Order: sequence, then structure tokens, then C-alpha cells
Amino acid sequence: MAKLKLYEYPHPILKKKAEKVEKVDDELRRFLDDMLETMYADNGCGLAAPQVGVSKRVVVIDIAHEGEEPQPLYMVNPEITWKSDETEVCEEGCLSLPELRAEVERPASVKISYLDYDGKACELLAEGFLAVAAQHELDHLDGILYIDHLSRLKRQMLVKKLEKNRKEKAHQ
Ligand code: NI
Repeated sequence: MAKLKLYEYPHPILKKKAEKVEKVDDELRRFLDDMLETMYADNGCGLAAPQVGVSKRVVVIDIAHEGEEPQPLYMVNPEITWKSDETEVCEEGCLSLPELRAEVERPASVKISYLDYDGKACELLAEGFLAVAAQHELDHLDGILYIDHLSRLKRQMLVKKLEKNRKEKAHQ
């Protein structure tokens, strides 16, 4: 396994609609393993392929807490087939927008169909934080970042903060 390079905002690949995967083979599984390692190394709970520079419809998620048994979830060509009318607000962060967090409102539960690590067709009813993580990661496949769900003012504030953090780091 290998840790992959993370692409950060405002890299154009993060704005691109990712392409469907043709088949789940060993090469893709190696990529899924590398994505998971990259996500764990940066303490993320989800990662989408465009964030490592690959414009494919692939995400990995693990919402297990520290010290708990890992529960990796691999989703290839995931699609939301149902969304609840009920919404929930949850604080989100993103490995492509380091050190930022903001509250985002999304449907409280969603149904997702996808192919798993073995290429088997699966369906998942995601609720609670899993619903948040899954919707955040699936958005990445359509070039949408969580800050795109915020008001323009809030988004500009966050981007300014990101630029300020980067400048400070560059001067250290
Ligand atoms: Ni993200």
C-alpha cells in the first residue's frame, strides 16, 4: 500500500465531474487500499478519488472512532437513490480544505446503491454521521465541496482563512 498525494482547494480536479468505473478489478482494489491508507494517515473519515487526483467515481469511508475496530466502506459508482425530507445540520471538514470546519445542512438519511470492494451490487441506508460522510464524499464525485452548500459570505470567509493559514505555514 502507498500513501497518495492529496489535492487541495482550489485544484481544478476537485471541481470536475468524475467518471464511472468500468469494472472492479485488482488494479482498482489496489487503488482502494491506497485511498484508505491515505485517509487513515490524515485522520479523515472519508476520501473521494478526485482528492487524490483521480477523476473516478470511487469513495472510501470509515466512521469508526479512534480505538474502535476499523469499519472501512468502499463505494464504487455510488448513487443516491432516496433522500429523507428531514434534514440535519452537522459540522464538516475536508482533507482538501485543511483545518477548516463549518456546519452544513443535508438530508438526515439517504439510500445509496454502489459496488463494493468485490464488485458486488449493494444498497445502504445511511443515517446519522454515516449519512453526512456519504453525502459529503459523493458530492466530491460531482465536483461539489461542502463549502459550496454555504452562503457566499461564509464561503469567502473560510477560503480567506485557508489562505491565511497557508501563508502562516509558508513563513514558519
Ligand atoms: Ni471532502
